[in-house]
Amino acid sequence: MSDLVSILEFEEHAYKSLPRNVLDYYRSGAGKQESLKANRASFNKFKLRPRCLRNVEKRDLSTIVLGHKVSMPVGIAPTAMQKMAHPQGECANARAAQTLGTIFTLSTLSTSSIEEVARAAPHAIKWYQLYIYKDRNVTRDLVMRAETAGYKALVLTVDAPIFGMRLADLKNKFSLPSHLTLANFQGLKATGIQNSKQGSGLNNYVTGLFDATLNWEDVKWLKSITSLPIVLKGILTAEDAILGVEAGASAIQVSNHGARQIDGTASSIEVLPEIVKAVGDKVEVYFDGGVTDGTDVLKAVSLGAKMVFVGRAALWGLAYNGQEGVEKILNILKSDLSTAMALSGFSKISELEPNLVVHESYYSK
Ligand code: FNR
Repeated sequence: MSDLVSILEFEEHAYKSLPRNVLDYYRSGAGKQESLKANRASFNKFKLRPRCLRNVEKRDLSTIVLGHKVSMPVGIAPTAMQKMAHPQGECANARAAQTLGTIFTLSTLSTSSIEEVARAAPHAIKWYQLYIYKDRNVTRDLVMRAETAGYKALVLTVDAPIFGMRLADLKNKFSLPSHLTLANFQGLKATGIQNSKQGSGLNNYVTGLFDATLNWEDVKWLKSITSLPIVLKGILTAEDAILGVEAGASAIQVSNHGARQIDGTASSIEVLPEIVKAVGDKVEVYFDGGVTDGTDVLKAVSLGAKMVFVGRAALWGLAYNGQEGVEKILNILKSDLSTAMALSGFSKISELEPNLVVHESYYSK
């Protein structure tokens, strides 16, 4: 068992152990990386108002998400190409989610297929993250495969009509190592994701195959071809959250894509209250971006997030030692959250309320 006790220590280890182009791909944000810094730093703009003397001896972190019971409001966000972190990639990550009784979201750009992950973690609550391809038959096929393999929701990423400018990837001519493949597309001609001659191979791939004409009608189309609930991931404004609900989404995931799309956005946690206020009484609202400990989770849940997802933290666990590393990451977040709840005077997730958190400006009034 590792002696690492925090997500930041796992991150530090990954920084020392991963090959440079992989590390740069995982850690980077877009542009000047202002939003990347903000995602983490902004948690500290929200202060806790802990309550005392409330008998917190027994605590229950479980909650219900889209009708499924999870052991805690922390799950795994979709991140692409996980076999670069560990040979068992997405399968190890999903198995860790299974052990912890939480949600694993598989990226479209995975290095293990939809079916492999389903076989590896048959009892995990698995969601499938979808990018929409210009060729709608490719998209339709992915949706059908996810349904058949028992995935419980489709997470449509709405913030990526094209990919953001991740400067390190451009510089490194980032491409998928030649022994790995995008496992869901064995038959599809990949355009330059391996052996990029110019710029980021991933950006070349996305420009070639993803549909930049994507609009609200496509959400309706997706709804018409699936019986799975649709989560819209990457919403940053009340306006879009409302349109998302009107288009039939079952949930909204507040996210700036780990600050990898457009730089200069507010952090995810700053945006969360606006979206909860706009649609929180109609659909479930989820959150991701910059989470590294239990107090981050506590703040997001108190501000109205039904579920919080981690992207990079799980990659750092995976890079450390596969499934075990991710389990360790999830266990750290779980016990951290449990401690934070006790020290704030709360025993149940359903009791957490916005009053527990204030913006720092509250104290200068
Ligand atoms: C991502 N993210 C992402 N999102 C998505 O919808 N599909 C994807 O394939 C990917 N791939 C991906 C790769 C890497 C390396 C990162 C870091 C992120 C975004 C991800 O789902 C999530 O929004 C962020 O990772 C959350 O921020 P943190 O937890 O990484 O700070």
